[in-house]
Amino acid sequence: GVWVVNQEGRLYALIAICTHLGCPPNWLAEQNKFKCPCHGSGYYKSGVNFEGPTPRPLERYAVSVYPIHGQIVIDKTKKYQYEKGQWDAKESYIEL
Ligand code: FES
Repeated sequence: GVWVVNQEGRLYALIAICTHLGCPPNWLAEQNKFKCPCHGSGYYKSGVNFEGPTPRPLERYAVSVYPIHGQIVIDKTKKYQYEKGQWDAKESYIEL
């Protein structure tokens, strides 16, 4: 799965796979965070981890706007990792 997140003027596609051991985290709106049901890792809306055993943030897919229809396109062949500085790559978000 994928979460399409709109935050601070950017839209990005978070990959819904926990970076601990691969379970699908849930969005807890009342706590404004993603929470993994397997071992309790927690992530901010941005995908950055802040609790539990996971050693790193969620990953993101490439996103773009399809020029003719204006639809959001998610490219699952391209992943971006925060710890490698890849979230600043132009393909990892859409400027709103
Ligand atoms: Fe998510 Fe372990 S798989 S915390």
